[in-house]
Amino acid sequence: MTPTDGPLHVAIIMDGNGRWAKQRGLPRTFGHREGVKALKRTVAAAPDLGVTALTVFGFSTENWRRPMAEVSELMSLLKVYVESDLDRLVRENVRVRVIGRRTGLKPDIVEVIDRAEARTAHNSRFLLQVAFNYGGRADIADAARRFAEEVEQGRAKAADLDEALFEQHLSTADAPPPDLIVRTSGEQRISNFLLWECAYAELVFQDVYWPDYGPEHLKAAIAEYRARERRYGGAASDDVLAAG
Ligand code: IPE
Ligand code: IPE
Ligand code: MG
Repeated sequence: MTPTDGPLHVAIIMDGNGRWAKQRGLPRTFGHREGVKALKRTVAAAPDLGVTALTVFGFSTENWRRPMAEVSELMSLLKVYVESDLDRLVRENVRVRVIGRRTGLKPDIVEVIDRAEARTAHNSRFLLQVAFNYGGRADIADAARRFAEEVEQGRAKAADLDEALFEQHLSTADAPPPDLIVRTSGEQRISNFLLWECAYAELVFQDVYWPDYGPEHLKAAIAEYRARERRYGGAASDDVLAAG
């Protein structure tokens, strides 16, 4: 199956803020602030490129290992982003979802997340998922725990568990799986992002630091995706034709 012009869920590992800053002799936090501008540009450009859902990796469960000052900066940037952009997102009919663990986040951050989700809950033109305090393994473990609790409470049966039912317990249950996962900065790894959901995503790695990212980069990544053939375990389409 060739990727068509149909609905497109793009997920982005926004990487390279620290190296962008280092290159300029600036503290890493400057890179993160510039990264927010790149996020705004990318969100604004996505719908016109045929994207219907965008998931961005903002803070991983492993990013707590960074120096405290950097962690606080990353936490406050989520707040800054939501506070400066929420009215616009509401106007533009964007639904905002924040996936990841709420536990461990300060109450003011949780309040901002809840407000963004509540104010945009009924929006339908575009889905923006922000992975924040998110880890793919943590999300799978949390889903397993939630299902186990339902079994303990007699609300579910272990024998009924299949992939579709399990998926409903993930924090991404409301969204289709990503079609395309982009990572910037030249690193080529998943770093615990959307582990379950990435099963058949196309991966594109771009050699640009996240603060320099913009619509033209997203356009290029989507063009690369559109040129791929997605097989989902089947045979290549020209082989199928040849085999008659
Ligand atoms: C990505 O940039 C932002 C987050 C992880 C939050 P990095 O901070 O990882 O930048 P590099 O990889 O050190 O350059
Ligand atoms: C992944 O990037 C997390 C985010 C982009 C939020 P990292 O920079 O934390 O990943 P590693 O450490 O290079 O694998
Ligand atoms: Mg990094």
